[in-house]
Amino acid sequence: MTRKIAIFDTTLRDGEQSPGASMNTQEKLIVARELVRMGVDVIEAGFPISSPGDFKSVAAIARAVDDGAVVCALTRAVDTDIDTAAEALAGARRPRIHTGLGVSPSHLHEKLRMSEDECLERAVACVRRARRHVDDVEFYAEDAGRSDQEFLVRIVQAVVDAGATVVNIPDTTGYLLPWAYGARFADLLERVDGIEDVTLACHTHDDLGMATASALEAVRCGATQVECTVNGIGERAGNSSLEEVVMAIRMHGPEVDAHTDIDPHELTRASRLVSSITGIGVPPNKAVVGANAFAHSSGIHQDGVLKARDTYEIIDPAVVGADRTKLVLTARSGHAALRHRYAELGLVFPEGEFDQIYQAFLEVADKKKEVYDEDLESIASEFERSVAAIWKLKAVQISCGFPLTPTATVTLVDEDGNTTTACAYGTGPIDAAYEAVNGIVQLDYDLDEFSIKSATRGVDALGEVTLRIANASGEVFTGRGSDNDIIVASTKAYLNAINRLLTAEREDSGE
Ligand code: KIV
Ligand code: ZN
Repeated sequence: MTRKIAIFDTTLRDGEQSPGASMNTQEKLIVARELVRMGVDVIEAGFPISSPGDFKSVAAIARAVDDGAVVCALTRAVDTDIDTAAEALAGARRPRIHTGLGVSPSHLHEKLRMSEDECLERAVACVRRARRHVDDVEFYAEDAGRSDQEFLVRIVQAVVDAGATVVNIPDTTGYLLPWAYGARFADLLERVDGIEDVTLACHTHDDLGMATASALEAVRCGATQVECTVNGIGERAGNSSLEEVVMAIRMHGPEVDAHTDIDPHELTRASRLVSSITGIGVPPNKAVVGANAFAHSSGIHQDGVLKARDTYEIIDPAVVGADRTKLVLTARSGHAALRHRYAELGLVFPEGEFDQIYQAFLEVADKKKEVYDEDLESIASEFERSVAAIWKLKAVQISCGFPLTPTATVTLVDEDGNTTTACAYGTGPIDAAYEAVNGIVQLDYDLDEFSIKSATRGVDALGEVTLRIANASGEVFTGRGSDNDIIVASTKAYLNAINRLLTAEREDSGE
């Protein structure tokens, strides 16, 4: 059996320190409940001395969370902070006080203005004070990543002796390379007496984009608790992200001798919840929970995942509660992906027809970044309309604007393959195009109704035109056309109605 790694979630404390991420008590309670559902071991609920609002949130979470998770509150190495944290945690079934101070030369000399001995004394005093309130006390050696390792060993030994149950070795500034960070854990495990009886925590920040890698290396080297946040939100570049750490441990457990008790099915839900509450969006390419984490755009990749999902996916989206694998249809998509998506929409085309559909798809895809299902439906119905066409549109060109007279040049092809071009002007560009069509088909119809709507999404959406024309005896025929260009869509719709009218007249006359 691999080692159980405790997941300490600090979304509500370090995560909330992200600019703009502040949450009210109600919102924090919602996130805390999701964290419990997911199975986190420790919830760092806040920093009670920092504001009355934070005190209230910690107290509310302490009361709301059952004994499934530890509820933790942060303090500085200051007596009133510790007493206030204890007060806020009074209702918790499993309270923990997280206290500590900076241990690196810059923290000692610039921020705290203390000697190493004074720092060590304060550390011991605050652990003892916290232990008077609760049995579970975590000590953090802030900026341990840039501390002198000899001093780190000394202070960790002192707090373990003073009764700390958890020792946290944060790389506060995300400075260390993963292997250097891991080496600090290996060294502490070797040199601190009694360290095997405490939980050894890693806490990493993403300033060099290595927070998750460093956390994993710390685990490999002996850490038994990972501190992280949902979506990796946190100070500056953020903390290590919970979903990345959990999935990396899940996929490489034996290599790092580790497992967690997190239910991965909750990862996507938690990510969306935190994003919607904080207003901090998840980058589309974010590992595990990004919108594109299971989206495939290139034809080669799409073909691969259709044959076997794991060709290009190491995580089954269902395992992290994500939507199923998504094939993004673009100009790079191949026949396989298009055929697959049409089949999902319930449309199957014979081989000969499919090639034409694919060409029509490429034309749309060349003009749009992404082709949506609505586009595909429009392409399919456009195709069905063109199959029965007597007149087909080959080209339409418009010249219009203020103060020009709208003029259209239209080229049509008849069923025998003959091409005819006509020019006309009109009251507007669509009227001009219709006049040019009338000039070619040598018929004139009354236009009954005309409407344009956006058939798909986005500014590059397909426009869909629906119109009705009536023949001399008052019979009405509907025409539809779609295209990114509304003049083209309008001309196609007009021709579609004319073709229907001509077909009906032929049927009536027994042709
Ligand atoms: O990054 C850090 O050092 C911290 C401590 C307060 C634990 O967040
Ligand atoms: Zn931090």
